[in-house]
Amino acid sequence: MLYRKAILRDVEIIHLMANDYASEGKMLPRSLSSLYENIRDFLVAEEDGLLLGAGALHVLWDNLAEVRTVVVHAGHVRKGIGKRLVGGLLEEAKALGISKVFTLTYQQPFFEKCGFCVIDKETLPQKVWTDCVNCPKFPNCDEICMVTDSGGSVNFASS
Ligand SMILES: CC(C)(COP(=O)(O)OP(=O)(O)OC[C@H]1O[C@@H](n2cnc3c(N)ncnc32)[C@H](O)[C@@H]1OP(=O)(O)O)[C@@H](O)C(=O)NCCC(=O)NCCS
Repeated sequence: MLYRKAILRDVEIIHLMANDYASEGKMLPRSLSSLYENIRDFLVAEEDGLLLGAGALHVLWDNLAEVRTVVVHAGHVRKGIGKRLVGGLLEEAKALGISKVFTLTYQQPFFEKCGFCVIDKETLPQKVWTDCVNCPKFPNCDEICMVTDSGGSVNFASS
């Protein structure tokens, strides 16, 4: 399995995977334009030229980033691909000097295995919600907010 930064030709398959899962209510939908705009955020997993997974680290502010759009091809789940993608994204965050990493998700058990824990989303800084105005669920967010262990011990309100 090759883990690498995404390139533009990965966008359509990430879009297909994310929106297939979104149609099942497992994550929120992603537009093609938001994927193109944020393609440099993405790591992907590839095997024999096939894209099997993707995930993004989106920097929001000084010492604050979000892990988002983690998807693994339905035929390849539970093989450790998602956890390795998230691990790679957390390494990127560390290299950038970011210790506060959060995610908004419906997949609590998976993110717990990746070292995240649940927090009250009200403790996230206002900055986080700027992208949410484009979400179909806004303002009634029903995703679970989770932070990495290192992020959980710091005061998000100070971001
Ligand atoms: C959630 C998702 C990314 C997990 O990817 P994956 O490659 O199957 O996960 P992994 O194989 O790396 O699993 C890592 C750990 O989480 C556990 N896990 C994964 N999915 C789980 C689930 N749905 N329920 C409980 N545990 C789960 C695994 O058993 C594994 O545990 P271990 O470390 O003790 O072996 C994948 O199922 C997916 O694409 N789901 C749809 C999209 C989505 O919901 N994305 C997250 C929101 S951004």
